[in-house]
Amino acid sequence: MSREPLLRVRGLKTRFFTEEGRVNAVEDLDLDVRDGEVFGIVGESGSGKSVTARSILGLLESPGRITAGEIWYRSPEVATSVAEDRPEAVDGDYVDLQAIPSSVRRTLRGTHFAMIFQDPMSSFNPSLTVGEQIAEAVEAQQRARANPRSVASRTQGYGLGQFLLSTVSGVREYVTESSRERAVELLETVGIPDAQLRADEHPHEYSGGMLQRAMIAQALAGEPNVLIADEPTTALDVTIQAQILDLLTEIQEETGMTILLITHNLGVIARMCDRVGVMYAGEIVERGTLADVFQDSVHPYTRGLLGSVPDLEGVASRLQPIPGNVPGLYDHEMGERCYFADRCPKAMTECLEHPPDFEIPDSPEHAAKCYLAETSYDESRALPDGYFEDEPTADDAGDGDRERPVERSRADGGESR
Ligand SMILES: Nc1ncnc2c1ncn2[C@@H]1O[C@H](COP(=O)(O)OP(=O)(O)OP(=O)(O)O)[C@@H](O)[C@H]1O
Ligand code: SF4
Ligand SMILES: [Mg+2]
Repeated sequence: MSREPLLRVRGLKTRFFTEEGRVNAVEDLDLDVRDGEVFGIVGESGSGKSVTARSILGLLESPGRITAGEIWYRSPEVATSVAEDRPEAVDGDYVDLQAIPSSVRRTLRGTHFAMIFQDPMSSFNPSLTVGEQIAEAVEAQQRARANPRSVASRTQGYGLGQFLLSTVSGVREYVTESSRERAVELLETVGIPDAQLRADEHPHEYSGGMLQRAMIAQALAGEPNVLIADEPTTALDVTIQAQILDLLTEIQEETGMTILLITHNLGVIARMCDRVGVMYAGEIVERGTLADVFQDSVHPYTRGLLGSVPDLEGVASRLQPIPGNVPGLYDHEMGERCYFADRCPKAMTECLEHPPDFEIPDSPEHAAKCYLAETSYDESRALPDGYFEDEPTADDAGDGDRERPVERSRADGGESR
């Protein structure tokens, strides 16, 4: 496994510009995913996991937009192919996914990157057979391989040709016998019985578990370097979930594929991942190896999660380890402070004065965004009970035993619409 990350995300900010205000769905996120590892992202509902995945893949929908940050992908092949036209998008073997032509980025999805979603129906066209759709993914990969020198031209050329052909003759005629055979092989790989026959069935003829397997087959068809799996098993019953997770593990071990696995379940993380990032309110608040996070966690949020779901039996339940909810992430409600403070049993006055750094001194692998990473909990600086239940008033200043800490609002930073 190379120490150089395959995917390097720095300072990513993703916002949704809604009628109600700006939603800071991803806040200054740094992430390194290494070649051949399974990196897990875990967090409660609304913490920004899916938006992070969609930002990386360039699949954000309006009113969502990346307003800052860099997303670098290591691929000498792609770097060479875009270096002449877009030198600013290349740094050694890395390409800046936001600076390469959008046609190239589209091609990378399905060939270099693949995504599997919680809802497999959203990945399949209901009017085409499952086999046709997997065969089409096989062909896309073959076309990409045929001309490795020019990622852009092959995309534009084929994209239009394929579109025109499919409007006059349908995809079935366009798919070759060999790609169909490969589709059947892939369906067999993911454990679909009678794959030869089932390849000719439509998505609605598959059960939920079978369609989830077919979606994995479709993702594998492009032989991706990176698979992003966003809660790939949540909708399934526990036995099928375990089978699908085992299947993903087997495939990862055989192919060495890098997986970014998103889940709200720590049992799934423990079963599959090498390293993990714990996400809260749009930030990764703790990151490390499984041992770092499971045995030596520092952040009270991680500790709260650990108290809730230690095994696969709990997969179907949403995490709710600590009283309270993930904030709505509206900009006007997010202060310049630790966002977990209102739920944190260890919150101290400094937690409201500045956001903590993301580090643990002398520990490059394990990091936590919490003051407890560098200082011990000091009860004399604890926030008064019920602090967040009452809005501060002018009388609070200097009143009582403890002075109310100063909360600062976050500077807009010029990120308006
Ligand atoms: N289209 C949208 N418009 C406005 N806000 C959005 C949109 N999509 C997501 N958000 C907001 O972005 C934040 C992060 O959402 P995200 O879907 O990434 O959460 P998640 O961690 O994937 O949650 P879950 O576990 O429920 O899938 C949430 O506050 C959500 O309301
Ligand atoms: S920085 Fe303070 S409020 Fe935030 S998690 Fe750590 S102890 Fe709790
Ligand atoms: Mg999600």
